[in-house]
Amino acid sequence: MKKIAIFASGGGSNFQAIYEKILSGDIPAEISIVVSNNPNCGAINLAEKNVLPTFIVNKARYPDPVVQNMMLKQNLLKADVDLICLAGYMKMIPNNIVAHFANCILNIHPALLPNFGGKGFYGMKVHEAVIQSNTAESGATVHFVDAKYDNGPIVLQEKVIIATDDTANLLAEKVLAVEHRIYPEVVKAFCENRIVWENNQPKIEVIIEN
Ligand code: GRF
Repeated sequence: MKKIAIFASGGGSNFQAIYEKILSGDIPAEISIVVSNNPNCGAINLAEKNVLPTFIVNKARYPDPVVQNMMLKQNLLKADVDLICLAGYMKMIPNNIVAHFANCILNIHPALLPNFGGKGFYGMKVHEAVIQSNTAESGATVHFVDAKYDNGPIVLQEKVIIATDDTANLLAEKVLAVEHRIYPEVVKAFCENRIVWENNQPKIEVIIEN
């Protein structure tokens, strides 16, 4: 049974989608810690309602960045984390944590990376930029995290067709529905040791049952 850390700053709907699959037994894992910079966000409320351990990491609690970083790492080690899932986490992950958990940190991004990713592309800004670009499609991407924003190896992407009258809000809704499907799928594959690496690219191994 893998132990998962969820990092989230917002509503927590991706966290919820993953958590529901854990509760139903579909993902063989447990949530061992929920990390946030925002003690009042939806993700922390969801964790508290379900009596899951939480850890709040921000400047108010730890003004010294070195201490902040140390406390975060200590809490992840104490929770015996195998996989970190970034689910709308608005802060950069410190380099030492990325290095310690190499190939064990996933992120979901609400566009088809490498397009519309990188610094400044977060939340509605992504969907607004996509709509303004007049492109015909967008989608969601699950990727491993490296030291740069939205840059690590892609595990799974799914496209969404953009209708001519789609607004950024409508597109966000369509993409979020896709996110709730593909993120749990990748987390499940990770927890079942079905992510295989070939030439530094991750792939989901599909098991065909007769
Ligand atoms: C999602 O759109 C995700 O792609 C992005 O942040 C948003 C988080 O939404 N990284 P929620 O908090 O999971 O509802």
